[in-house]
Amino acid sequence: MAEHFRVGGGARLAGEVQVVGAKNSVLKLMAAALLAEGTTTLTNCPEILDVPLMADVLRSLGCTVCVEGSTVTITAPSQPCERADYRSVSRLRASVCVLGPLVARCRRAVVPLPGGDAIGSRPLDMHANGLRKLGARTEINHGRVVADAEDLRGAQIWLDFPSVGATENILMAAVLAEGTTVIDNAAREPEIVDLCTMLQQMGAKIEGSGSSTLTVHGVSSLQPTEHRVIGDRIVGATWAFAAAMTQGEVTVRGVNPHHIDLVLDKLRAAGADTRTDTDSFTVAMDGRPAAVDFVTLPYPGFATDLQPMAIALSAVADGTSMITENVFEARFRFVDEMVRLGADARTDGHHAVVRGVSRLSSAPVWASDIRAGAGLVLAGLCAEGTSEVWDVEHIDRGYPRFVENLRAMGAEVSRVTTDPVR
Ligand code: EPZ
Repeated sequence: MAEHFRVGGGARLAGEVQVVGAKNSVLKLMAAALLAEGTTTLTNCPEILDVPLMADVLRSLGCTVCVEGSTVTITAPSQPCERADYRSVSRLRASVCVLGPLVARCRRAVVPLPGGDAIGSRPLDMHANGLRKLGARTEINHGRVVADAEDLRGAQIWLDFPSVGATENILMAAVLAEGTTVIDNAAREPEIVDLCTMLQQMGAKIEGSGSSTLTVHGVSSLQPTEHRVIGDRIVGATWAFAAAMTQGEVTVRGVNPHHIDLVLDKLRAAGADTRTDTDSFTVAMDGRPAAVDFVTLPYPGFATDLQPMAIALSAVADGTSMITENVFEARFRFVDEMVRLGADARTDGHHAVVRGVSRLSSAPVWASDIRAGAGLVLAGLCAEGTSEVWDVEHIDRGYPRFVENLRAMGAEVSRVTTDPVR
């Protein structure tokens, strides 16, 4: 049996939606708990598929993990196991972020290669180079990353690209290294700042959090802590796009609006009215959105995770949009599914050109990853008839209570279990 979403077109979304903690933060914070013996507690955690998957990875390393609603407690042992379980890691790409903490605590780590996925080849060369700079012999063989270090020593590290994952792994190794590490061209995402904040609470010495130069003064040990996960800006922005596309009015609570300044600016350029408060914002669209161009870049640029939402908005906008993808080489793969829904979209390398149509038409479509799935549902909300979105487990991996939240805002969406159609 397979689950799919039935998505009825035509509703204007209205109302309020509460957003909880960020997937792309909580998974790294869970790995960071490995850095200190004892119990670390994370609150405001999203109830998504990836959290229990990450819990399994940590259990395979000797941790005791308890996931109860939006609270996750992780008790790390005095000597974690240095070898992560193949099956658990292969089910969750993000679990590669245990590499840094294991090298820091055990001076050795054996982590299966997560491999590529629907959006790109996703190599780990910058992770490995950074660990090498800190003194760890690091090689990739037999489908695993193996890192070994007598000692970890602070170093000057330049990243070729402000990779989120490489910044996180190097940071989590450097906090327990001897001496000072400088990570230049580091990632600046709010999730990196959230990780730095928790590490500082554990006793780490970090300067430059949120800038492209992170300076880490190594310490000999860290303490467990309690930390509240930041609101999920990608989920919040997804609801902002949904409000604009359906010409509705939605208030999103639980997200710092400054984490999506550029998104709100783009939606204003498309004709939306936006209002912000400390940790909430409202998006209202009166009439058909105007076409705007989007260019994905590392933070504070336009997030690649919102590219499918940009394509979906452009598909119903008045005019022609150009969307440029600079972060993942294969992230336009889902555009064919958008064309199934009647979108006039073409891609050429890093560029997609989308001519807006006044109405999309319903069809069965398949989600290839988390964000593509959300983009297809948003497009289905603007289609004539009822669409079916399949492979929705992708969406469940990143969006807590997706169907319930949409229904609460007036959308005709339901989760259905039937025999798969292909
Ligand atoms: C994180 O992935 C997020 N995932 C992604 O979100 C997000 O799209 C991405 O950052 C960019 O913001 C999690 O946090 C779990 P990168 P990550 O390292 O860390 C290349 C979602 O939908 N690269 O910043 O894997 C890489 O191939 C997911 O929630 C190397 O070449 O992203 C990519 O083209 C999807 N070598 C670019 O850099 C390396 O060693 C950015 O990757 C590392 C990365």
